[in-house]
This record gives sequence, C-alpha cells and structure tokens, in this order.
Amino acid sequence: MSIIYDASAKTLTLHTRESSYQLQIGPLGYLLHGYYGRRAAGDFAPLHRRKDVGFSPVPYELADETRGFSPDTLPQELSGANAGDFRLSSVCVSLPDGRRGADLRYVRHEIRKGKYALPGLPAALDPDGEAETLSVTLRDEALGLEAELLYAVYESRDVITRALRLKNIGSGEMKLEKAASCCLDLPFGDWELLHFHGRHAMERQPERQSIPHGEVRISSRRGESSHQHNPFLILCGKHTTEDAGDCLGAMLVYSGSFELALEKDQMDALRLVAGIQPEGFSWTLQPGESFDTPECLLCFRHDGLNALSQRFHRFLRRDLCRSAFSEKARPVLLNNWEATYFDFDREKILSIAREAKDLGADLFVLDDGWFGRRNDDRSSLGDWFVNEEKLPGGLEELIRGVKDLGLRFGLWVEPEMVSEDSELYRAHPDWALRVPGRKPFLSRSELVLDLSRPEISDWAFETLRGLLERYDIDYIKWDCNRSLTDLCSPALTDGRQGELAHRWVLGLYSVMERITAAFPQVLFEGCAGGGGRFDAGILAYFPQIWCSDDTDPIERLTIQRGTGYGYPLSSIGAHVSASPNHQTGRSTPLDTRATVAMAGAFGYELDPGKLSEEEKARIRRQIRRFHDCERLLREGDLFRLTELADEKDYDAWQLVSAGKDESLVSLVLTHPRANAKPLHLRLKGLDPEASYAVLRYDVFDAFQPEPPEEQPKQVTGAALLYAGLTLPRMMGDYPSVQIYLKKTEE
Ligand code: DGJ
Repeated sequence: MSIIYDASAKTLTLHTRESSYQLQIGPLGYLLHGYYGRRAAGDFAPLHRRKDVGFSPVPYELADETRGFSPDTLPQELSGANAGDFRLSSVCVSLPDGRRGADLRYVRHEIRKGKYALPGLPAALDPDGEAETLSVTLRDEALGLEAELLYAVYESRDVITRALRLKNIGSGEMKLEKAASCCLDLPFGDWELLHFHGRHAMERQPERQSIPHGEVRISSRRGESSHQHNPFLILCGKHTTEDAGDCLGAMLVYSGSFELALEKDQMDALRLVAGIQPEGFSWTLQPGESFDTPECLLCFRHDGLNALSQRFHRFLRRDLCRSAFSEKARPVLLNNWEATYFDFDREKILSIAREAKDLGADLFVLDDGWFGRRNDDRSSLGDWFVNEEKLPGGLEELIRGVKDLGLRFGLWVEPEMVSEDSELYRAHPDWALRVPGRKPFLSRSELVLDLSRPEISDWAFETLRGLLERYDIDYIKWDCNRSLTDLCSPALTDGRQGELAHRWVLGLYSVMERITAAFPQVLFEGCAGGGGRFDAGILAYFPQIWCSDDTDPIERLTIQRGTGYGYPLSSIGAHVSASPNHQTGRSTPLDTRATVAMAGAFGYELDPGKLSEEEKARIRRQIRRFHDCERLLREGDLFRLTELADEKDYDAWQLVSAGKDESLVSLVLTHPRANAKPLHLRLKGLDPEASYAVLRYDVFDAFQPEPPEEQPKQVTGAALLYAGLTLPRMMGDYPSVQIYLKKTEE
C-alpha cells in the first residue's frame, strides 16, 4: 500500500519509493499539510508550530484556549478564501446573495486502487496498474460547496498527481472564481525557484532565483501555455545541484492560461498554488453540478535536479502520453519549411523528398502552404483543400510520389485558427472570437476559431478526419500560430464569459482526444509557432512538440536544456537546419547541428539540393549514428554535465541506458580559447564496477591542429565517474563531439 491512514494520529501518508507526503485531519476538520520530502515514516504534524504570531485569526470555537491555531499560519492542503487565511487562496466561490469565499472542512476520505479520471481533461493513466487514489472530501456547509481533493500515487515513479473536483451542493446557483489544482504549503526550507521563461524563438530559458517575501507569479493569460512562461517549475534548496540536494517539481497538465503562484509568508513558509489562471476566470455551477480542475504532477527528489528530470521524463513518456509512439522509435523526418517556406511546387517538393530518401530520412513533411490559396501567411487558414496550382494532381499524387520513393508522408495543419481571407471565414464570420462592437485583434493575420462551441470543434475534428481518411498520411504537424484575444462567445450567455478560455481548451482537447483515438497509427507533433504550447496537456496526446522556431544549435543548447528539465528528450522536436542559420545568421558545423538535434526528436529542415556531396555523406553518417543510438537517446536517463550557474566554455550532457550498459556523451564547444585549458568531463550514471569501451565519434568539422588523441580502449566505470575523461583539444567555431560508451563483458 502506498497510501496509509493512521486513525490515531489522523494522518494520511502517501509514499513513493523515495518520497513521502503527509496530510493531517486537524481540529475542526481543517485539512493540514504535514510533510512532503524524502521518504520517511512517522507523524510530522507535531513539527508545525501552533504559536500565536499576532494578527492571525483563530476559529471562533477555539478562540481563547488555542490562540496559536490559525488558518493563516498553519500549512494547509487546500487554502480557502475569506476564511481566516490571508495568504494565497486556492478556491473561491460567490453566491448571488453576495456571499463569497470558501471555508472547507474535512468530511471523509477514501483510499482505492487505480487512478481517478478527469473526464474531458488530459491526465496521467495507469498503464502498469500501480496507481492508488486518495480522495478527501471537504465541505463548506454555509456556502453549499463540496471539494474533493484527488491524489494518485505512482510509487515506483516517485510521482504524486493532484486534482480538485468542486461541487455545488447548495440549492441555488454558485460561481467559481478560483479553482486551483494544487495548494502546497512548505512550512520550512530555504527554497529557490527554477522556472522557464522566454519569448517566441527563445523559449524556456532556465532562470534560478531566490524567492522574496511576498508573491511571485509564473503565468500565462494568452489562452495557451505560451512561449513566455511554462506551466512547470522547480523549487530547490539553496545548495541543490544537478546531482545533490532537495528539489520539488510541479507541472500542470494544462495547455491554456495558467498560474503558478508562490507566496513566502511572514514566517518564511512557502505556499505554491497552481492551476487555471484565475484572472478573468469564472464558472457557474447549478445545484448538483461539479467542476474538475486540470491535473498537477508533483515529484520530490533529495538527490538533485538530474534525478528529478529523469522521473518526469519517464512519467510523461509512460504514464501520461496515450500515443503508442511515445515509447517507440520515431522516424527521422525531413521538413520543407526552412527549405522553401511558402515557395514550392510539386516538382520542388518531390525533388526534396528524393534527396531526403537518398540521405536516409524515413519521412517527408509538407509544411505550411499546400492548401487554399496560401502563398504567404495572410490567407486560407480554414480552407483545408489542396492548392492544385501548386500541387497539380492534388495531395493523392504528391503522396504517391513520396511513398514511391519509400518514404512516409507527413502534413502540416493549423486547425484552431482561420484567416479573414478564407472561404471558411466568408461562410462563417461568426465562428471567430470577437467582442461585439469591436474589431478583433489580428496576429499573423489570423483569427481564433471559437472551439468552445461544439459545432466548431466538431468541424475541426471532421476536417482532420476527412484529411486522414482521404489521404495516406503517417504524421501530422499540428500548429497554432497565435494567442487568444477578444474572449467573447455568443454561446456563453448569462454572465458565463469567464468560462470561455477554459471551455476553449476543453474544446481543443476534445478534438485532440477524438482524432488521436480515431487514428492511432498517425504520429502527431504539436507546435505553436515553435514552442508556444510545450506542456504536459499536449504531451498527453502527442508524443512530440516542435520545440522552437529557433533552429540555431547554439541557441538551442539553452532552449533544449530548459525544456529538458521537465520534458523528455523524445518529446523535443529538434532539426538540423541550414548554415548560416535563418534566425540568427550564425554559421555552425553540420555535425554540431546534428549533435544538438539528436538531443530531441531528430530530423532535418533544409534543402538537401543545396548541400555539397561531402555534406550529404556526413548527413548519411549522422542518420546512421542516430539509428545506432536511437533507443538510448529516446529512453536513456539524461544527465546534465554542467551546472546552470557554471560559466563554462561548453555545454555537455550524457544519456545512460536503464541497465547502465551504454551511454552517449555529447559536448558542444561554445567558446574556443587560445591556449585553452583541457576539456575535462566527469561522467555520471555509469556502473562503477563495470568496464566500458570508449568510442569517439570524431569531430570532422572542427579545425584540428593535432590528430585526435588515442582513447584508451577500455576504462572502468569508476575511472569515468571519479576521474573522468579528458577530451582532445577542439578549435574553431562551435565544434562538438559525441562519445559512445559500451559496457564490455569483463
Ligand atoms: C510555425 C512553425 O513553428 C514553423 O515550424 C512552421 O510550421 C510555420 N509555423 C508555418 O507557418
């Protein structure tokens, strides 16, 4: 049993292999948070002070005898509102008579096998039948509100999931103003915040900072999880490194506007409230109706950030993603976007596909520009029929041509948006979000289809189904190139417009759920102008997401590092593109571009017709190398070999197979120096008792004044872990090296 109820101490303890989480049913039914940390047994509640700190209100029933008992200072499992706790609220409702708040007290709990479900929302599954669920019901009798706190424990994964179900048990209408997925109080500890901010083409830049007193909010109000902030954060101890120390990750399984709010209070306790963005949100519940929040994934590790990332990676791949591709080898694809942009015709596409096949690619992707009259980004979204001027003979013929080459075929779509200049918009101008009396905002000349309306999300599903039924398509790149504005839907009357942003996301999920279930053989890749919606909600349906429109490998080092703190490498769409790079103008060696792209769902995005024979030969070798290491790259444990704060002249990372029998080390030199110090790496994750053969994939692009040094044929794991490897000197702009290690018999 991973969930234990101790009736005498009134504690509920959730154990994973390496962590424990405790709740306590306190006086007057307050549900107190006891502990979340390294696995330990016992009753943690006595650790918490119950001291009168002044100006912190005490429940009436306890007033004089127990002045120290205040919801304002005690760690709580769910923080109410207007109920004696001045810190961040996680739930708040209002009634038509003006009453507002939430004061929720314990009623009952239940422990059961299996995983709770959140209908209509993506949430972790239970593929190995190991999950156990704890449901704790609380009530605010005065306001007629019931809350069911849902926890699932995945013991072997070190992951605990949380969600909240709110129900109107009163006799009249109720409005939810705030419905967070998770409230987590950490009464002790000096926590730092590691979060992932950015912008278009520069997503998920890791930033680690101390947490000041007051409030810090990581959030999106853009209707999508956004390029700017990610619904994932890590709290870590001041001295936590990649390989040691406490850290706690919280990840929302949600793709819409969100908020991860932190408050460090007067006594230095930290509260995290994670969930749907409360600004602008409201949800009406009639008597008997309920509302489910998105899920929040929690993982605690005492042994550093690498271990934490590895747990999230495995969990997302195995327990969250429904796609059969999640744990399968993915095709090496070649996408024509950076090769042609909108400027292509049938012959050009077929010649790129021919070259792609010759290079060793498995799948060709036709990106934007194949439909309607789409010759630039100003028209035709919504008109999902082929542009016969560009592609005479239609998609059938083109696909046949590609398949005859022995390649699989992929297609780009953007089903959530519509161009003003489109047949769809002319037929249904009322399908786009807009505030009556105002012109809507345009973004990339697009408007947003109102997916909250079932007839419109059904249209999106039917359109995609039509394409997938008619054409022999193996892969879909699902793009979304703008944020949501003009939030107003004619379907939401009676003061319900506050539901729109979340209903829109539910509409999107219903399309994704239906289409992926109907076409399980199709590999879907998410995309939102690069990585504008890189989140666990999308990854529940699609096993990979295009990480960023910035394909410069040196920029990608940071973008992919930031993404990889939470998301598995196999989910990070990464392509080798042309040099000089189209976004930065930087020139980099072809092998370095491949080294970086291999730390992701690997592919190419360039015109092979512009490559020299020598470059083509190099790409053939890269693809062979990728296939050799495919499983290791997809399933291996990731170890970052540098600290975030290090000012190193290189970035390096390592993948180690589950049995520690093989490993791939990659290093990219970001700053060559005169008379450089030796490049020395201490490796991680290997078996110290074993011997490894060390094979270097040489750096052909770099100017090497000396021949590569001879590597010892066999080295012990202990030597690689405790002494490390010294690499040959590398010079020039951005060379890289990959070193493959294989356990030997003796
Ligand atoms: C944004 C994507 O990130 C690109 O890869 C490409 O598909 C364009 N959209 C096409 O419009």
